[in-house]
Amino acid sequence: MAKHSTTSLVPVQKRWPLMVLLCIAFSTAIAFFIGASFSSCNSHDYSDTKNNFNTPIHSSALDGGAVEKEKNPLSFMKSKLVLLVSHELSLSGGPLLLMELAFLLRAVSARVVWITNQKPSERDEVVYSLEQRMMDRGVEVMPAKGQEVVDTALKADLVILNTAVAGKWLDAVLQENVARVLPKVLWWIHEMRGHYFKLEYVKHLPFVAGAMIDSHTTAEYWKDRTHERLGIQMPETFVVHLGNSKDLMEVAEDSVARRVLREHIRESLGVRKDDLLFAIINSVSRGKGQDLFLKAFYEALQFSQVRKLKVPPMRAIVVGSDMGAQTKFETELRNFVAEKKIQDSVQFVNKTLNVAPYLASIDVLVQNSQARGECFGRITIEAMAFQLPVLGTAAGGTVEIVVNGTTGWLHPAGKEGITPLAENIIRLATNIEMRKTMGQKGYTRVKDMFLEQHMSHRISLVLKKVLQKAKREVRR
Ligand SMILES: *[C@@H]1O[C@H](CO)[C@@H](O)[C@H](O)[C@H]1NC(C)=O
Ligand SMILES: *[C@@H]1O[C@H](CO)[C@@H](O)[C@H](O)[C@H]1NC(C)=O
Repeated sequence: MAKHSTTSLVPVQKRWPLMVLLCIAFSTAIAFFIGASFSSCNSHDYSDTKNNFNTPIHSSALDGGAVEKEKNPLSFMKSKLVLLVSHELSLSGGPLLLMELAFLLRAVSARVVWITNQKPSERDEVVYSLEQRMMDRGVEVMPAKGQEVVDTALKADLVILNTAVAGKWLDAVLQENVARVLPKVLWWIHEMRGHYFKLEYVKHLPFVAGAMIDSHTTAEYWKDRTHERLGIQMPETFVVHLGNSKDLMEVAEDSVARRVLREHIRESLGVRKDDLLFAIINSVSRGKGQDLFLKAFYEALQFSQVRKLKVPPMRAIVVGSDMGAQTKFETELRNFVAEKKIQDSVQFVNKTLNVAPYLASIDVLVQNSQARGECFGRITIEAMAFQLPVLGTAAGGTVEIVVNGTTGWLHPAGKEGITPLAENIIRLATNIEMRKTMGQKGYTRVKDMFLEQHMSHRISLVLKKVLQKAKREVRR
C-alpha cells in the first residue's frame, strides 16, 4: 500500500468517502449480503403459528455467556476433516453462512471439503467466484457425486448438511453408505416453510447426530411440524443464534466511516440532515411485509398531522427492490405510494450486496417479516450494531433479538400490526432520547451476544458434542 505516496494530492479527508465505500464494496460485500438477504424463511403455508418456545432445547447453555477471548473456541477442530454439503451456491443467506463457517474452521486449520449438490450445468460467474474465494482460503472444493466424495464422507470426522433440502444428497450419493455416515451428520437448518416438511428431504433427520437451528422459535416449529406432519422425531437439537461479522462491526464502530457513509447516502437520496429516516431492508416480497410497513408509515404521517405533533420530517426507504423484475408486489407498493401521494417521503432502493452504508444513514430499522417471521434475521443484529432502534414483528427470531421496550418495540405480524407499528413509529419520532437509548442498548446487546466470537463459541459447543457422539457410534 502506497501510504506515503507523493502523488496523492487529495487531502486525506476528501479521500475518505471513496476509501470507505471501496473497502466495503470489495472486502465485506459478502458478509453484509448475508444479512440483507437471509430470506430463507418466509412462510405462507401455515398460519397456526405458535410462538411459544418454553420447552428447553439445549438453549441456555449455548446462549451468550462468557466467551474466552484469547483462545479460539474452535481450536479443537484443528486437523479434523469436515465435509460441508451445500444445497446450492449463490449469493444467498444459506450458502454464504456455510462459507463463513468454512472460513472459521480453516482459521483453526481444520481440513474442510466443500461440495455443492445443485450446480447450474453451465459455467456460472457467481459459483465460480465463490469457489475461487474458498480455494484461496484452503477449502477443498469437490464434485458432489462420485467415489471421492463418498470416501471423504466415510473418512470425515464430521459432515455438515446445510438447509433441509440438502437432505436429498444423502441417498442420491451415499446410497448404501448412508447409515454409516448419519451418526456424524450435523444438520444446519434455516428454513421455516411448509414445503420443506417433506419426507423426501428429511427422512434421515431422526438418525443424524444433531440439528442446529438459528432460533428457538424455528426449532420449536420443526419439532412440532416433523412430529405432527411426518410422524418423525427431531434429533438432538441445538439453537445457535448467529453473530455479526468482524467486518461489519469494524464499520459500525468507526464513527468517521459511519459519518461519511451517512452523509454520502443521505445526499444521494436527497434526505436532509434533520429528516428522520426509517428503513426496511429485505428483498422485496410479501413475506417481508413491505406493504404493511408502507401502510403503517402512511398512518404515522397522518397521525402526526392530525395530532399536530412536533416531529422532524419523516422519510422511509425500502431497500431491496428489484426494479428489473417488475413483480406484481413491487407494482402494488409503488401504486400505494402514488395513490397516497407520499412519493416525496418514500423511496425505493435496489437490492444491494452492501447494506452497511444504509445502516449508517438511517435512524430506525423496521423488521416487518410476516407470518412466522424470520428464522433469525441477521439484518436486525446488524442494525443494532449501528446503534439503531428496531421496530419488529413479534414473530420468529426477532423476538429473541429485540427486547420490547428496551432495544426497540415489537408489533404483531399481520394487518393488526399496522396501527401498532404506526404508533411505534410516532413514539420514536417524538422522542429522540428514546431513540438514542434504545440504539445504545441494542448495541450493548450485540456486544454481549451477537458477535462472530459468540457464534463461534456456540457452534464450538455443538461441534464438540456431535464429535463425541459420532465417536461413540463408531465404536459400537
Ligand atoms: C436498479 O435496478 C434496475 C434494474 O435491475 C436498473 O435498471 C437501475 O439502474 C438500478 N438503479 C440503480 C440506482 O442502481
Ligand atoms: C411491547 O411493550 C408494549 C409496552 O409495554 C406493550 O404495549 C406491547 O404489547 C408489547 N409488545 C409485545 C409484542 O410484547
